[in-house]
Amino acid sequence: MSGHGTPIPMTSRPCGPLTGEANVPGDKSISHRSLILGAMAVGETKISGLLEGEDVLDTAKAMRAFGAEVTDHGGGNWSVQGVGVGGFAEPDNVIDCGNSGTGVRLIMGAMATSDITVTFTGDASLNGRPMARVTDPIALFGAQSVGRAGGRLPMTIVGARDAVPVRYVVPMPSAQVKSAVLLAGLNAPGQTVVIEKEATRDHTERMLAGFGAEISVKETHEGREITLTGQPELQPQTIVVPRDPSSAAFPVCAAVITPGSDVLVPNIGLNPTRAGLFTTLREMGADLTYENEREEGGEPVADLRAKFSPDLKGIDVDPARAASMIDEYPVLSVVAAFAQGDTVMTGVKELRVKESDRIDAMATGLRLNRIEVDEGDDWWTVKGLGHGNVPGGATCVSHLDHRIAMSFMILGMAAQKPVSVDDGGPIATSFPIFEPLMAQLGADVKRD
Ligand code: S3P
Repeated sequence: MSGHGTPIPMTSRPCGPLTGEANVPGDKSISHRSLILGAMAVGETKISGLLEGEDVLDTAKAMRAFGAEVTDHGGGNWSVQGVGVGGFAEPDNVIDCGNSGTGVRLIMGAMATSDITVTFTGDASLNGRPMARVTDPIALFGAQSVGRAGGRLPMTIVGARDAVPVRYVVPMPSAQVKSAVLLAGLNAPGQTVVIEKEATRDHTERMLAGFGAEISVKETHEGREITLTGQPELQPQTIVVPRDPSSAAFPVCAAVITPGSDVLVPNIGLNPTRAGLFTTLREMGADLTYENEREEGGEPVADLRAKFSPDLKGIDVDPARAASMIDEYPVLSVVAAFAQGDTVMTGVKELRVKESDRIDAMATGLRLNRIEVDEGDDWWTVKGLGHGNVPGGATCVSHLDHRIAMSFMILGMAAQKPVSVDDGGPIATSFPIFEPLMAQLGADVKRD
């Protein structure tokens, strides 16, 4: 689990062109869901390409604690012998989800309609994050919860003995909340309806359909309305996890800002609810091309080529795209520093409740590296300096947040002076091979 170990200070020094293939790890969102849905199916689900980062390993451990047999066959191949919807056993001990908001929120949803009592905890980052966004809707199913002030972990949830189905309008753009409600709906009789005003990543809906649940989606005046029929017998699946576009973002952005670079990122999941960063980078003038576009396991996939892009310009990022690139704003803000003019990012309040307050963490670190940033509650602007003009030279705080640590490492690759972070340890939560992968491309990222 991250955040409990000794801090790992890291430095990224200006480097030559980045070239070659970046084989980034499996998709984190799909990996969590593969394990959880596998545990709720009857029979053996086979998973290849699972992300073996700490977040997902914590979810694997949790599924074992709920009674599923989860086996690591090596090389990213896993299997889950599921216990069926409603078949969760009560764990003997506290469920520790480490750094993972997705892990804890999805598992809370999945257990909320079982007659079991479970206590959840996490690291210092996760224990500071809001959980009422999940405990509010699961209370409608009949689950009870008691946690620390402000709805924080550690928290105990008493699952509903006789769950009732719900109709719930998700108040914030959050795939975690939507998914928690759908997973809770699995063990409620009748139809559970979830409405999201803005579309967020739809892996749960796609995968539930794949596992044989009766689920439909329609657009209404209220938004995207998802209807799930409860108490299905989920059929085990063979899942090939595509590579994570949110991890691809780091070598892609590094290539775009580092002179002479040409990097190919094969097999990237390009689900439209995830691919907003790449559209945004292209609008800024980045040289990105999709090669070999295809569909794999119900998800659109392509090989993505990113080249150094000398004429980046600042833009107003369309807020309608925020949900489809919510995890990518930190690294986008780094690219924005190398563009000419301002990059304005609006409608991004959710960034304040991620693994860290990501607007604050990036704005503070960018300023230390002598890049000007303005910010408000739900917006921020990075004042681009253009290629060759970004000073760098500072040590930034990663706040137990993998994406903050990696974003500052990318900054150091093309700034005038090296950039350091106080703790790169959290990178292992989502991208355990970040250092060797970036080194193989030609980056100079080292532990101090
Ligand atoms: C995720 C949803 C997003 C995202 C997170 C993964 C998911 O969180 O930031 O990294 O897999 O459902 P929110 O639902 O809080 O926006």
